[in-house]
This record gives sequence, structure tokens and C-alpha cells, in this order.
Amino acid sequence: MGYIIAIHNQKGGTGKSTTATSLAVLLGLLQRDVVLIDSDAQGNATDAMGFRSRRVNGGRGYAEFLQNKRNGRTIVQRKVQRSGMVGSIGVLSASKEKLLSLEAQLQHPMLSMNTNAVADKLTELADQKDYVIIDTAPGVTHLSVAALKAADVVIAPVVPTAWAFEGVQEVHNTLMAVRDSEVPVWPVMVMASRNKASRKTYSSLKEKYDGDVFDQIIRRSGSVEGYESKGKTLLQVRSTSTAAQDYVAFAQEFLSRMEEEEA
Ligand SMILES: Nc1ncnc2c1ncn2[C@@H]1O[C@H](COP(=O)(O)OP(=O)(O)O)[C@@H](O)[C@H]1O
Ligand SMILES: [Mg+2]
Repeated sequence: MGYIIAIHNQKGGTGKSTTATSLAVLLGLLQRDVVLIDSDAQGNATDAMGFRSRRVNGGRGYAEFLQNKRNGRTIVQRKVQRSGMVGSIGVLSASKEKLLSLEAQLQHPMLSMNTNAVADKLTELADQKDYVIIDTAPGVTHLSVAALKAADVVIAPVVPTAWAFEGVQEVHNTLMAVRDSEVPVWPVMVMASRNKASRKTYSSLKEKYDGDVFDQIIRRSGSVEGYESKGKTLLQVRSTSTAAQDYVAFAQEFLSRMEEEEA
């Protein structure tokens, strides 16, 4: 039985897609059975995984998965590589039109298609995997609500600005509104600089959320900005960048949190 990890923050540009793709790829390299889901119609994670044209994903993706299309064969397996390590991850990619039409359907819930039904599908999938990593859209979409309903852990990437707290607080508020059971929210500071604002944000986050905050900070690296438009993940664009190195340590911290109780 695996875990569902939702990567969520209502604010845009806080490193959600970067964190989701990097974590999924690193878990794949560490031989975990992982599925990366792109639930954002913008499809940044989809781009980063190199599925830019419809021909590449062949009409298989998250929308088709939720609609039980293609005889259940909707996950596309991708080989991942990094410094001599080889692995693979499953991807449920985003097709803009299909996810938007799904959102419209979820606006008028039916028996077969509502956020609880989506959450159930996610749980079923996680039962067969080690990790299901879900990249969510900014704002509060129905697909994000479904991901939050199903999540075992929510990772909230925050950038070092005055809105960092508001971002984490909003995640907590949304969770309270959509489910009864408690679920851990783990903030991670991304795109950090060596300036006062970054240090202050981090220490205040620690003060408020304590051990929930990841020790590992992801630094801003100019060399990876806009990496997704190249159809590659951050780890592939500049594998030696500070940001890539930080994500490696972050993935290890994540695993030790998740698998500590099992060991
Ligand atoms: N550590 C980093 N260093 C530099 N640029 C980054 C870093 N992480 C993300 N970016 C860039 O910041 C932008 C926003 O990141 P993204 O992960 O797409 O955020 P979100 O999914 O929350 O909107 C992207 O253009 C990405 O290339
Ligand atoms: Mg995104």
C-alpha cells in the first residue's frame, strides 16, 4: 500500500511543478514504484516530462485515467537517468482541454464524477504503487480538492516572501474545509537566496510549523530558470546546479520521513 503526496499551494509560481517532478524522478531513481500525476491544465509537469505533443502521450493521461478509458492503460512509463543511475516513473499527463472539461464536469457533480470519486480512484492507484505524487494547479480547483481529500501528506512549497505564511495557512484552511481527518502539511522553502529575506522566512516558518518544515532548503539557481520549456526536468537541465543538488537531499529527507516508521 502506497502513499499519496499532494504538492499544493494556492499561489502560483511557488515551485509546485518543480518540486513534484524532481521528487518523482528522484524516487524513481531510488527504485520506488512512482506515478507522477499532472492535475494542472497548464501542464508544466507534463512539459517537463517531455510530453509536449499529443502524439507523445497518445491520448493517455490523467483525464483518461479518471474516465476509465483505454482499458485502464493510461499511465505512460518514462525512463529516468541521472549520473549513472537509471530508473523509471509512471506519468499521468495533463491535456489542457481534457482537464478543463473535467473541471467543468466536476462543477456539476454526478454519481460517477465528483471529487470523492476522483479521490477514490487515487487511493485505488496508490494501493498498487509506492508513491503517487500529484502536482496541483494554483487556486482551488476541483481536481486539487480531490487530491487533498485523498492525500496522506501535503507538501507545500513556499518562496521566501511575505506571502509564504499565508500560502501554508491557506493549505491548512482548505484541508479543514474538505476533509474531517487530519493530514500532515510539510512546508519546504524553495528558490531561496543567501539574503536576509530568505533567512527570515525560513526561521519564521520553523517557529510556526517547527518539525513539519523540511530542513533541506532548495536554493534558487539562475541556470535552471524556465527549464520546463526545454521539455526536461530541472534535474536533467543542469544536473550539477545547486537547485538539483538540493532536491537530491530533499528527496532523501522525504524518504526518511516516510519510511522511518516502516523500518
Ligand atoms: N530552484 C529554482 N531556481 C530557479 N528557478 C526555479 C527554481 N525552481 C523553480 N524555478 C522556476 O520558477 C518558475 C515557477 O516554478 P514552478 O515549479 O513552475 O511553480 P508552480 O508550479 O508553483 O507555479 C518556473 O519557471 C521554474 O523554472
Ligand atoms: Mg505548476
